[in-house]
Amino acid sequence: MARILTGIQSTGTPHLGNILGAILPAIELSNTGSNESFLFIADMHSLTQIKNGVELRENTYSVAATWLAFGLDTSKTVFYRQSDVPECAELTWYLSCFFPYQRLTLAHSFKDKSDRLSDVNSGLFSYPMLMAADILLYDANFVPVGKDQLQHIEMTRDVASRINHLYGEELLVLPEPKIQEETQLIVGTDGEKMSKSRNNYINVFEDDKTLKNNINKKIITDATPLEDPKNPESSSVYELYKTVASPQRVLKMSQKLLAGGYGWGHAKKDLLDAIIAKFGDAREKYHYFMNHKNEIDEVLHQGAEKAKAVAQATLGRVREKMGY
Ligand code: TYM
Repeated sequence: MARILTGIQSTGTPHLGNILGAILPAIELSNTGSNESFLFIADMHSLTQIKNGVELRENTYSVAATWLAFGLDTSKTVFYRQSDVPECAELTWYLSCFFPYQRLTLAHSFKDKSDRLSDVNSGLFSYPMLMAADILLYDANFVPVGKDQLQHIEMTRDVASRINHLYGEELLVLPEPKIQEETQLIVGTDGEKMSKSRNNYINVFEDDKTLKNNINKKIITDATPLEDPKNPESSSVYELYKTVASPQRVLKMSQKLLAGGYGWGHAKKDLLDAIIAKFGDAREKYHYFMNHKNEIDEVLHQGAEKAKAVAQATLGRVREKMGY
C-alpha cells in the first residue's frame, strides 16, 4: 500500500495551475485502489508571506473548500490543516540541524527573492525544511506536485538520507515526486508559469462576469486583424484552452485560428465557456463550503486527530534515535 501526500499553501484561492497540477491528480490517486492519502493545507508556509490573521484564516478555508469542491472523499483521506499538527515544527528543527546552510541558499524559493534580501525572512529561507518535515512526518511514498516543487522534494530526500545514514536506514521514508506530464506546468495569462506572485493566474471560482473580465484583460494577444490567420501558439489562450477543453474542441480552435476570420476575442469567449462547463459543479460546491465553514472545521478537526497520531509515532522514533 502506497501513501500519497501533498499540500497547498494558503496564500490565496487556489488557481487553475494548483488545481490541474496538484489537486486533481492527488484526489485521483487518493481515490484509487489501496492508496492511503494525506492531503493538507500548508497554512504555516503561508506565514512567510501573509501576516494578517484574518486573511490567513480566510485563505485556509478557501484552500479547504477547493479540496472539498473537487470531490475529496474525507472518509478515505486524512485531510488536515498543517498548523493543527505542531509536531511538524519540531521535526523541522531536527531536519534543519542536518541540512547544510549552503544547500538552502540554492533553493529557488529563496534564490528568486535573494536580489531583495531585505524582503527575505528566515522562515522563507528555511521553507524547504518545513516542507521536508510535512512529508517525512507521515512516511509518505509519493508526493503529487507540479514541476516547480521538484527541488523541494530532492532536498527532502537529501536530508532524510543524511539522517538515515547516521541513525539507520529505516528511520525516515524517502519520498518520490509524482508528476503528471501534461499538467506539470500550467501557463498563466502571460505565457509564463501560472503563479499567484506573477498575478497571471486564473481563479475559476470567480463569478462569470469577473472571470470574463479577467480573461479578456489579462491574457496577452497580438493585434492580428480578425480576418487574418493566426498562430495558435502565439497566445496563452490556446495553451489554456488545451488544459480545459476536449481534444476535438482544441483541434477545432486551432483550425479556426489558422483559417482566419476567428479573432482572439472569440477564442477568449470559447475559453471562458470551457472553464464554466468544466468547473460548473466544483464552482457551486466551492461557494457552498465557503458559506458553511462549520462543515470545513468539522472535517479538518477529524483529520487533525488522525494526522496527529501518525505524526507522534514518527516523531517518537526520531526523538529516541537523537537522544531526546
Ligand atoms: P503551492 O501552494 O505554491 O502550489 C500547490 C501545488 O500546485 C502546483 N502548482 C502548479 N502546477 C502546475 N502548473 C502551475 N502553474 C502550478 N503552480 C503551482 C505546485 O507544484 C504544488 O504542487 N511548497 C508547496 C506546498 C507544500 C507541499 C508540502 C507540497 C508545503 N508542504 C508537502 C507537497 C508536499 C507550495 O508552495 O505549493
